[in-house]
This record gives sequence, structure tokens and C-alpha cells, in this order.
Amino acid sequence: MPELDLASIHLPHANPFLQGNFAPVVTETTAFDLPVEGEIPQELEGRLLRIGPNPLGMPQDETYHWFMGTGMAHGVRLRGGKAEWYRNRFVVDDTTAGPLLRLPLPGPRNGRYKNTVNTNILDIAGRTYATVEAGGLPVELTYTLESSARSDFDGTLQHGFVAHPKHDPETGELHALSYQPDLKNLSYIVVGKDGRSRTIAEIAAPHGPMVHDMAFTATKVIVLDLPVTFNMEEVGRGFPYTWNAKSPARVGLLPRSGDLSGLRWFDAPACFVFHIMNAFDQGDTVVLDVVRHSRTFDQERRGPGEAASQLVRWTIDLVSGFLQELLLEERGCEFPRFNDAFAGRPYRFGYTASAEDGVRFGPSYKHDVRTGHTETHDYGPGCATLEPVFVSRQGSSVEDDGWIISFVYDATRNASNVVIVDAQAFSEAPVATIHLPVRVPFGFHGNWVPDTI
Ligand SMILES: [Fe+2]
Repeated sequence: MPELDLASIHLPHANPFLQGNFAPVVTETTAFDLPVEGEIPQELEGRLLRIGPNPLGMPQDETYHWFMGTGMAHGVRLRGGKAEWYRNRFVVDDTTAGPLLRLPLPGPRNGRYKNTVNTNILDIAGRTYATVEAGGLPVELTYTLESSARSDFDGTLQHGFVAHPKHDPETGELHALSYQPDLKNLSYIVVGKDGRSRTIAEIAAPHGPMVHDMAFTATKVIVLDLPVTFNMEEVGRGFPYTWNAKSPARVGLLPRSGDLSGLRWFDAPACFVFHIMNAFDQGDTVVLDVVRHSRTFDQERRGPGEAASQLVRWTIDLVSGFLQELLLEERGCEFPRFNDAFAGRPYRFGYTASAEDGVRFGPSYKHDVRTGHTETHDYGPGCATLEPVFVSRQGSSVEDDGWIISFVYDATRNASNVVIVDAQAFSEAPVATIHLPVRVPFGFHGNWVPDTI
């Protein structure tokens, strides 16, 4: 396929979410046989996928909100110790199909349809999907990241989907909490191994909270109800969710059965949490590790970053009804990940990207959440990582036996690398660094998708 030159559409601006490596790239690139420093582990056979905003066909000015940009998927395919290819492709939506000279995607447009899909990219039942929250249906992608169709999971998804479905290693199912502006409920959804969804419960939320993430324990689903809510005054100006000091800050614990009579709410510190690292039951308590933003979308309404984002542990005492907070890491961080085989269970190690002021990125961290000790991996001068993805060594049950893999922006060459770090030698030199020919803009989420799932 010829490379697409969209340079005439790109207009640089002073908005920080359009500057430096936040700025969109204007071409779709395909590159083969990428240069590698070090050795890619032979057993890594599959794709490292990533997605983020890359605005196209929308104003790129002071009003642009980082969360609203057109989706762009990025992928690197590894096999036999080689980096076979890198590809980036727009996630086609109804706004961009025209400028991209493509037909609108086939498939449903359920409910209050949200167009842009830019927040996560993952495998569901053997298919690759780009996903988004707040009313958007997933877009199914081909192995090589071309958009193929909108999907409502074979007609089983009533409304939109979510950015953060959570995989349960015990059952193979995905758990999700969806919300959208026109609905007064949060929907607790489970997607089965067959890729079909079912709604387990509808939780009343008439005040319209933004619920970006969820987690589960062996017995409960974690519901975050925090003071960022739908704001009608912002509709039409971009992103319609803002800080709302009048709204409660609370955590709900719902039995996994969805029995609403068992739903309990616990007061939390006034803050916003985009991401939960993990959660688990421990005696008469429920423990959840979260990245807490002390405030967001209050003064700065183009993206996060107006206050500290810190990793904290919330311990909810089911007997006393109180939630206690413990600071796990003073330095700012975001995009928490861990070994997914420990989802919903007691665990020890988590990984984040450093993020001073919420969005100034740099090294990655390995957090020992039992001891509070943090290790740092510094990628070198001018280098900044986003979400560090943990990939377990095949057959190993040791929690940190594997690799941390991430896209790392290198300002010295204005391009990105994929860097593979031994998670048990976290501060040491990388195992391998794969040089991409272009940069991958700072964006949101991604996953390792092995070829054999
Ligand atoms: Fe997220």
C-alpha cells in the first residue's frame, strides 16, 4: 500500500497536547526487518500493539482535548528473535473515512454512538479490537491493523463498550463497567470466551460519573464513583467531563454475581483515578492499588496533568466501613500494569511509567507493593516510556519472571524504540532495543498479543 501523506491537514499549535511527541504523525508507515540492538527473546512470537490519539479532520487548536483525537493503532511483530515489521494505521471512523479515502466501516452503530475509537487495543476471543468508552463500539482490526468493521460482539452489546475490560485468568472472561452520557446507569458487563457479552447488572449513577477503569477480586467488582462528571456546558466544546466538587468520592463493592442488594459504598478521598493496578480480598478487607490524581479536568480541560498522580493503596475495612490510604510511591506515575495471571489475587509487583504532573513522562518503575521499594529503569537521555507491558516467560509461575516491553520515545532521534527489559533485572541494560523508523506519539494503552492464544 502506498504511504499516505496527510501533511497538509496537520496544523501545529501551542496546545501542549499537540506539541513534541504529543503531536500527531501524518503518515501511515510500514517497515520490515527492523534494526535491533541486543537479542529479542526467541519465545516472543506475536505483536506488541498500542493505540493513542492522532487527530485528523478535527480542529487542532487551543480547544483540542487529548482524549478526543482520532485513533491510531501501532504494532510491532516479533518472531524468531527478529522484529519483522512495524505498522501504524488510523482507526477508521465516520469522520476520517473520507479524508483517508476509505469507505465507512460496515457494522452497527448502537445506542448513543460515539465515533472516535482511540483508547485500548487488545485481543478478544482471537480477534483484534480497538476500544473506547462513553458510548463507542469497538472497531475490529485485521492482523496487520487495518480497520475492518464496527462490532457489537455479534449483537450482544447493547450500548457502547469500555477502554479497560479486565481479563480474569481463572475463568478466561473479561469484566467491564461501561458508562455513557445519556444513560443513568453503569453497566456491569462480562464478555465470555466466545467473544459475546452479557449484562450482569445496571448500577444507578444518575449524576453521570466518568468511570474509566474497574477491577475485580475473587468475590467483588470494584466500582469507582469519583468527582469527574458529565458537564452539559462542555458539550460541543470537546470533552464533556469536568471536575465536580459537589459529587461524591466513593468506592463501590458489588458481588460478582451482580446482586445489587449486596452493593456497598465506601467514602474515598476527593480525587480522580483513571487506573487501578490490581485489587484483591484480604480477610475482612478489600485492597486496591490505584494511581490517584489529586484533581483533574478542573483548570486544565484539554487533558490530565494539573496535579500529582501517585500510586497509593486503598484498604477498605468491611467491618468498620472505613477506607485507609497508604502512599506507595511519592514520584508521579501512570499507566499501571502487572502480571495479569495475578489479576484479582494478592500480588507483589506492579509497573508504571513515570509521569510527573500526570503527563511528563520518563523512566519506568517496578513497584514492590509489599515492601514499598521501587526500582527504576532509565531509558537514557531524552527517552520517555509510556505504559510498560509485562509479558510472562512461558510456563513460569514466578510473578516477575518475564519482560517489560514498551514503546519508548527517543527525542535525540525524534523516533521511537520498542525496548525489552528483563523484569527480574529491571534496572540493568535492556535485553533488546528495536529501532522504529518513526515516532509513536504519546498515547494511551496497548498489549502483547501472542500468535498462539
Ligand atoms: Fe486508561
